[in-house]
Amino acid sequence: MSLTSPVTDATTPLFSLSLISPEVSSALPEGYICRPLQRRDYQNGFLDVLRVLTTVGDVTEQQWNERYEWISHRNDEYFLLCITDSTGKVVGTGALIVERKFIHNLGLVGHIEDIAVAKDQQGKKLGLRIIQALDFVAEKVGCYKTILDCSEANEGFYVKCGFKRAGLEMAHYY
Ligand code: ACO
Repeated sequence: MSLTSPVTDATTPLFSLSLISPEVSSALPEGYICRPLQRRDYQNGFLDVLRVLTTVGDVTEQQWNERYEWISHRNDEYFLLCITDSTGKVVGTGALIVERKFIHNLGLVGHIEDIAVAKDQQGKKLGLRIIQALDFVAEKVGCYKTILDCSEANEGFYVKCGFKRAGLEMAHYY
């Protein structure tokens, strides 16, 4: 399979709009939208929002398109969503990755990753809405739980979102 020509139109949602929580949509500030990622979000500031979280690097549009296509072929596993403001700019994002297990009767586990809200938009409950939106996807696709790793500094945020401390993160870096 070639990874050089995107298979989706620039504004095709990554996954079904039926997986976007109506409650979250109606709780957002006026003009803000919660929606699945689109290929065009490269132009809408998606990577800049992720820069509040960690190093992103200089990702070219072609590299973005290739990764986007790879993800779009796995859109029953990768659920990336964003919140846009009234100008269409991406102001927040988060991802749910659904792992298919043998244990727990072929259980599905959701992994929440890469939650970020633009610096000047923090404190408006957008982070909470992103987590609620990802929880909605996880429940709808049949996950029996959702887990995530975070720093001590963010524990309070996730507690407010309904998560509780469970276990300990270990890492090998390569
Ligand atoms: N510690 C304790 N409480 C917090 C924190 C924190 N770090 N951040 C927010 N809260 C509280 C808020 O005060 C609010 O409480 P309230 O309901 O009593 O008013 C509640 O949590 C919801 O806060 P939001 O307004 O939804 O938070 P925000 O939109 O600012 O998003 C986020 C929070 C995502 C942590 C944001 O600050 C951010 O992008 N930080 C930088 C990137 C980052 O650290 N992302 C998380 C990485 S972990 C992961 O991706 C799995």
